[in-house]
Amino acid sequence: MARLDPHSYTESSQPLAKHVALTLYFDFAARTIHGSALLTLPAAYTGPLLLDTRSLLIHSVLDPHTTAPIPFSLPSDPTPDPVLGQPLSLSLSAQSAALVVFSTSPTSSALQWLSPAQTASKAHPFVYTQCQSIHARSLFPSQDTPAARIVFSARLNLPHPLTAVMAAARAAAPRDPVPGEVGFACPDALWCAPGRSVEEFIMNRPIPPYLFAFAAGDIAARDVGLRTRVHAEGGAAVLDAAAREFAGAEEMIRAGEALFGPYEWGRFDLLVLPPSFPYGGMENPMMVFLTPTVIKGDASGAQVVAHELAHSWTGNLITNKTNEHFWLNEGFTTYAERRIVEVVQGEEIAALNMGIGWRGLNDEMERFKDNMEFTKLKPNLEGIDPDEIYSQVPYEKGFQFLWRIERQVGRPTFDEFLKKYIAKFKFQSIDTEAFLEFLKANLPGIENQIDLKQWVEGTGIPPDAMEPVSLIYSKIVSLSNEFKLGKIPKEQEVANWSGQEWELYIENLPKSVEPSQIAALDAHYRLSESRDYEVKVAFLQLAISSGCKEYFGEVERTLKQVGRMKYLRPLYTALVQGSAEETKMSARRIFAEARDTYHPIAQGVVESILAKHS
Ligand code: BES
Ligand code: ZN
Repeated sequence: MARLDPHSYTESSQPLAKHVALTLYFDFAARTIHGSALLTLPAAYTGPLLLDTRSLLIHSVLDPHTTAPIPFSLPSDPTPDPVLGQPLSLSLSAQSAALVVFSTSPTSSALQWLSPAQTASKAHPFVYTQCQSIHARSLFPSQDTPAARIVFSARLNLPHPLTAVMAAARAAAPRDPVPGEVGFACPDALWCAPGRSVEEFIMNRPIPPYLFAFAAGDIAARDVGLRTRVHAEGGAAVLDAAAREFAGAEEMIRAGEALFGPYEWGRFDLLVLPPSFPYGGMENPMMVFLTPTVIKGDASGAQVVAHELAHSWTGNLITNKTNEHFWLNEGFTTYAERRIVEVVQGEEIAALNMGIGWRGLNDEMERFKDNMEFTKLKPNLEGIDPDEIYSQVPYEKGFQFLWRIERQVGRPTFDEFLKKYIAKFKFQSIDTEAFLEFLKANLPGIENQIDLKQWVEGTGIPPDAMEPVSLIYSKIVSLSNEFKLGKIPKEQEVANWSGQEWELYIENLPKSVEPSQIAALDAHYRLSESRDYEVKVAFLQLAISSGCKEYFGEVERTLKQVGRMKYLRPLYTALVQGSAEETKMSARRIFAEARDTYHPIAQGVVESILAKHS
């Protein structure tokens, strides 16, 4: 018995399901999905089959051909493993398929259920998934490791007038339910009750389970490009702004194709979620999920879209085999994102993004100074919750590693290498060793020019990493340094600045400064009121750690408006880290009041920040 992945109960000696057919009945009032998952193996198999589950209720397991029960068991100790959940063990005898009948729980970590009051329309409930990294198991029983790719079909039963979208292709127009099609997910009477409709989807390219995604609610859509449609809850206003923000999507797809090869997923649609979406973007295939905070009215959401689009090659085509190799996903994607940004927005903007990343990487070294394992490109994650140690390291150290190789061999050679790498490993899940082997085979001698072992296994930032060079970048960093001497940038110096310039400027300031200087900067440039959350949050973080109490009201409003963890983490951390008891108490109060509006993953992350400093 050996596990394939430290984050899954999947056994390496057992067959991997290749196809999953899901039937899902949505009960919005109970915040529950009644479902069945038909798992098909490559061949008949006799023996135990371990599946991952978390907070699922397992009702029965059947042989789909005979409907005879298949014996199954859950651990006798009902306490789930805090990271892995619970293994469901099926006992198969010469069977190649199993139908698991289950219900989700209202606290499923993959789902956020929003009441009508929490939506923009205020009229209908809404639900959406976020499965990365290991939450698919709280949605359906699965071999929830990226090593196990699946194709799937899904049949969703929803109440009128709600509709669903999926990171998959629509297989049929919404229709009335038909008796007998329910696949044991719930009684026929429920499935076919008046006012219910059925939507069907199919994903026929093999994907890792973390890319399984849907949303359901009052969703409207608008075309913004040849293969791009934007969907949103919240009606025309959101759609108008989103359509403007994402008008450049097609140009980006073309830039990506020129750099990395054909776009293999057909459509590239976008879904704008409510403000509680815990990430900036999620690269769900065929339909990227986005936070509404990227819509700023100045086309700067382009960076997030470029990033999620880039995953279509690096991540979704080539996937990390386990989360220990997450840098293969995010490091490559950060590199690919910046190459796309360079094509569509120019070298200076790309360098600015690199500079923000460089700052972020250096800050992570401080965060992990007592836990250097997490500064490794390939860390040991046994027993570690991926959400807990989410950081810039796989993104920015991964980016730096690839950029280092590019500098060594030159861009034309590296570009050719990248295309070859993608063509070779597409639709596979690989580890760092597979990458290194391919690297050495295709760029002979590279191991004598770059210390690959130090990059992959070493802690900290290798000496041959590099700060980006660009005119704007250097100017901003030097202005940040002058702030320490009491100088605030002049109007003409910042005349052309957009959000990213300000973000870089603020993030390069000392972590704590004179409160009077904060007030002077804000009096001049109104950073605390910026519509750009990157700027606003960077400023508020600095204001809190500098002890400026007059901003606490704005901090509280921000923490109650958005649920993106990139903003929650620094603000809550600043509030509790080394602060007076009174400030810590207000952090706990704000969280108690805002908790219900946060995604379950974000709730967990904030809880652990507060616990660490209690
Ligand atoms: N795949 C990630 C989001 C993610 C990572 C979700 C790990 C769950 C676990 C996505 O591609 C991402 O990196 N998003 C960034 C966008 C940014 C780098 C432009 C984000 O959300 O901030
Ligand atoms: Zn990413």
